[in-house]
Amino acid sequence: MPPVLQVTGLSKVFGAREQEALRLADEGVGRDEILRRTGATLAVHDVSFTVERGELFVIMGLSGSGKSTLVRLLNRLIEPSAGTVQVDGRDLRALDDAQLRSVRNDKISMVFQHFALLPHRTVRENAAYALKIRGVGAREQRERADWALRTVGLLERADARPDELSGGMRQRVGLARALAADSEVLLMDEPFSALDPLIRRDMQDLLERLQSELHKTIVFITHDLNEAMRLGDRILMLKDGRTVQLGTGPEIISAPADDYVADFTSDVDRTRVLTAGDLLREPRMTARLGDRAGDVLRALGTAEANGVYVLDDRGRIAGVARDDLLARALQEGRTDLGTREVVAEYATIGADRPVVEFVHLVGRHTVPLGVVDDDGRLLGVVPRAAVLDALSAVPARGSVR
Ligand SMILES: Nc1ncnc2c1ncn2[C@@H]1O[C@H](COP(=O)(O)OP(=O)(O)O)[C@@H](O)[C@H]1O
Ligand SMILES: [Mg+2]
Repeated sequence: MPPVLQVTGLSKVFGAREQEALRLADEGVGRDEILRRTGATLAVHDVSFTVERGELFVIMGLSGSGKSTLVRLLNRLIEPSAGTVQVDGRDLRALDDAQLRSVRNDKISMVFQHFALLPHRTVRENAAYALKIRGVGAREQRERADWALRTVGLLERADARPDELSGGMRQRVGLARALAADSEVLLMDEPFSALDPLIRRDMQDLLERLQSELHKTIVFITHDLNEAMRLGDRILMLKDGRTVQLGTGPEIISAPADDYVADFTSDVDRTRVLTAGDLLREPRMTARLGDRAGDVLRALGTAEANGVYVLDDRGRIAGVARDDLLARALQEGRTDLGTREVVAEYATIGADRPVVEFVHLVGRHTVPLGVVDDDGRLLGVVPRAAVLDALSAVPARGSVR
């Protein structure tokens, strides 16, 4: 199956001398210089990326970096100067007007910063709006709108009018409208930027929950790096219309592409971005139930460790074998490692949990913090050094303030 969205070499110039501006851009000339020489604005230049089904893809950049232009190119609200956009493997330029309209109605919906709610219609009518335009029957409109309103927690306000709602609630009506339309891809251009911080946080939580339940494909625009890191599976960082980096939040933080990105990311709270999975290491050794206690004790000596995770036959943690307990077992004539030789002196965490949730557990036991999957199988360990290392990472040269 082709990716939902595939963008290749996409550029957009505003102004008359478009081709000349593009040629300069291809030579590497910057936006300001192009504007001076041609009078044209290079809004987006040579951007390529792919969005997979179910992905929450973030486009991040400061004001003027070309985010809104890029997102408008994605559903052909504006025509590109160069490059292609493919939706489900079909080039948008190959579609006639009717096909394009159907893509916009059924496939891709746009959610704007200021949801254009209809003031004289009820919340329910607003939520059903896209369906009404599409000619969906009244009963189905109502069912889908009510489902969407329940999903965003607003069903009990279905008969209210928009001006009776708070700003945060109005944003949720806009979100409900997009959900009711049930299009596969949601394009969201700074939907939360106008909200105050607490409501914004609620909306981010709501979006995360919706995403984990509904698995929409979302292209989310923001100028806020913390929001990008919080929500994005991957983040495309734009500067002056060009890609500076494309990667996951942890990738961008741990390996910024240049000084600009390093500087930008130096203020990010790493303890909330980096997860146990980002920091995990292969354990230096593990033991199995049934192993010979003498062998395990010798291996511990060689590794200069005082304890080791003991796994059962399915790779789950049975406990920790400590050197003193192994020595006693041998003295008492028990040669095989059994459940009596292991103790529950360890802590575990899921791979997706951020550092802030487990930093207090690190370095507390004879074995490093264990990272486990949903079945309790040991995936790896997080030694204290790995945490210190990740948190102390110094921004790249030249960006220290
Ligand atoms: N319709 C337009 N005509 C001329 N210039 C435009 C137009 N739309 C955007 N621009 C310019 O393109 C650049 C990128 O703008 P935009 O895509 O809105 O950035 P962002 O959404 O990241 O703030 C800016 O310099 C902006 O002034
Ligand atoms: Mg914008």
